[in-house]
Amino acid sequence: MGSPSGPVQAAERTKYCWDIFTAPALRKTQLAGTPYRYWSSFAIAYFLKRRLSGRIDFLDAGGRDGGTLSLLKGLSLEGGYTLMDLEPKMASGHDSNFEIEVIRSSFHDFKPQRQYDAILFQSCLEYVESYSDIAWARDCLKPRGFILATVTCKNTRPLYTGVWAQGGRHLLDERDLAPTFAEIGLRVVWVCPLGGAVSRAYQTWIYNWLNYVVLAIHQRTIGKLFPKLKNRNPMSPCYRLVNATAALLDRILPFWRIGHCIVAERAD
Ligand SMILES: C[S@@+](CC[C@H](N)C(=O)[O-])C[C@H]1O[C@@H](n2cnc3c(N)ncnc32)[C@H](O)[C@@H]1O
Repeated sequence: MGSPSGPVQAAERTKYCWDIFTAPALRKTQLAGTPYRYWSSFAIAYFLKRRLSGRIDFLDAGGRDGGTLSLLKGLSLEGGYTLMDLEPKMASGHDSNFEIEVIRSSFHDFKPQRQYDAILFQSCLEYVESYSDIAWARDCLKPRGFILATVTCKNTRPLYTGVWAQGGRHLLDERDLAPTFAEIGLRVVWVCPLGGAVSRAYQTWIYNWLNYVVLAIHQRTIGKLFPKLKNRNPMSPCYRLVNATAALLDRILPFWRIGHCIVAERAD
């Protein structure tokens, strides 16, 4: 399906939604990341723009450093921002647009204290042991609330070996999405493929290989001479351009997707 409306049919193979690349605001730092993050940034911003406006209550589950906040502000939203993470990298507080609440918790132990307009799980559902760990999500959605999540396909294990070494384990193919979310009382209403053949080839042959070679050389040379620059990736400026080019070429080869961005709502 190409637009975020209507339930996804079980046997349907979803079409790419190229409109995501018209998203008006983005987490710009992610554009130089992996193709998965590049595509996710567009899909998330595109959907949030369509569904949210004005004052909101937003839960960033597994939100780590609260980078999503800059996106919400870019979309001219305000209200409450809750970040929940096993190891959060930001503190509670407030700024001109948002009251910020940070909760240190695992998905499994989280007990929401309020209702949300939107819950985001970006690049973190791969870590749940079981989807029952996030069954609380259904009951803390406001009446028109929704869940926005990114999930990688099962055949991406060789693409992100470091992630799996840290404990990532739960991957879903498109046919698994509707039944998995149905088990926790949610209905998938939008599925947006992320990445195509060119993005996947780029991740395999350039990002996963060249990136580490360049980083190793950088850390042993520039990094030693200028310690402040040690963790700066000299390739970053190129990645944004390569991601954009790969995404453009994926229109010719729209298959071998890396993952999906999905939207789910309460099933009842
Ligand atoms: C790859 S990071 C993604 C961070 C953020 N969502 C983003 O896209 O920038 C995954 C995050 O999930 C968190 N995480 C992993 N397992 C978790 C769990 N069981 N409960 C809560 N958070 C978890 C990690 O601490 C980490 O911050």
